[in-house]
Amino acid sequence: MSVGDPTIDDDHKHLVELINTFETAISGTAIDHKRVARVLLGLVEYTGEHFAREEELQLKIRYPYHESHRRSHRDVLKKLSDIVTDYSKAPPGFARDSMVRGLANFLKEWLVDHIIQSDLRMKPYVLQMQAQKAEAMRRKREALLASQKMAGMEPDLDLEPLGKTAAPR
Ligand SMILES: [Fe+2]
Repeated sequence: MSVGDPTIDDDHKHLVELINTFETAISGTAIDHKRVARVLLGLVEYTGEHFAREEELQLKIRYPYHESHRRSHRDVLKKLSDIVTDYSKAPPGFARDSMVRGLANFLKEWLVDHIIQSDLRMKPYVLQMQAQKAEAMRRKREALLASQKMAGMEPDLDLEPLGKTAAPR
């Protein structure tokens, strides 16, 4: 489920971990509300940071759907923080417990939707930018080697293998 950018991929892994922690907190016969509250707050905070990183990347790769993606990020963050507010106000008891259990499905669906439906669309643009970068690097090295040759210098051997094999990762 890689979007081609290691930072964003790591973010997604961390989001999965947070949601798994949430599931563990609600899986016992008695819900661990302390843990639930902690994970929900962490999720809101981390999601905000992740969205900011993702939006920054989208600007860099000139992602054409940047604006609508940014809007959907705002919607999701609003929804998440509303959930946390509702949860923090709910009195202990059956209603609060069933609210928390319903949340697990919402979070999983949201995450899958976010990564698979939405973020994976960035991948071709991420790969294209990486290929362009690699090509620019290759040209730069070639030009440098050519100028060294013209100046009658021994070519810098450190540059040569990279210049020939540089490929997008
Ligand atoms: Fe994402």
